[in-house]
Amino acid sequence: MIIRKSPREIAKMAAAGALVADTIAYVGTLLTPGVTTEKLDAAAGTFIRERGGIPTSEGYKGYPKAICISPNDVVVHGIPDGFVVGEGDLVTIDVGVTLDGYIADSAYTFGVGEVEPESKSLLDTAQNALEAGIAEAVVGNRVGDVSHAVQTVVERAGFSVVRSLVGHGVGRHYHEDPHIPNFGAPGRGPRLSEGMTIAIEPMITMGSPDVNVMDDGWTIRTQDGSMSAHFEHTVAITADGPRILTPRVGVPGGVEV
Ligand code: MF3
Ligand code: CO
Repeated sequence: MIIRKSPREIAKMAAAGALVADTIAYVGTLLTPGVTTEKLDAAAGTFIRERGGIPTSEGYKGYPKAICISPNDVVVHGIPDGFVVGEGDLVTIDVGVTLDGYIADSAYTFGVGEVEPESKSLLDTAQNALEAGIAEAVVGNRVGDVSHAVQTVVERAGFSVVRSLVGHGVGRHYHEDPHIPNFGAPGRGPRLSEGMTIAIEPMITMGSPDVNVMDDGWTIRTQDGSMSAHFEHTVAITADGPRILTPRVGVPGGVEV
């Protein structure tokens, strides 16, 4: 069942979304060679709680940490641990925040220091794919229009879309209907209508699109060890077009702070 949100509910999601964006920017300032992902997670958890939020991921289906941190070949759901960040790494910071009962969800992949040209291209492509998907998130379109736009940008650049991981409705719950795949045919799938709130999140790889779940039950890595990138925004479908509820601040491609 798709839960459409009232303007009042969307305002609450936007407040949660602002805290999500601030958290991602804050973690970005700490993301330098030598730091562990565990340390970044602890800082993020404190940052969110000090501002009245709850890290939505913590305790979600038993997830043990405040946020997900996924380096390099880890596509999503990396559990922060003793991993030491290094120059040239691609590190995804994926943050959900619950504020006043409403949830927003966003992810951003940072390049640490100087990254390989191919890595830079992967980041740019994932970001462009997210933008292309958001542009299709308008009243009257279908989920397949969003999916197809994402897939087209990724595959034109020679990269792969992970099939087994999808975006989702979000707001009252972390994961609501509908699924938002990152591949598909235009004109297919549920129709988008005013008040729907969805997380669009291309998860892409340099090599094969196949992934494995690790023994911890969470960490998802590319099978071939190739690099991955993941960008996500929470978006409301409004009469005036797509509204990003997690607008970037203080990161490359975001508003300076
Ligand atoms: N934020 C993730 C998403 O994009 C969900 C993470 S679930 C967790 O959907 F439990 F791993 F945190
Ligand atoms: Co999500």
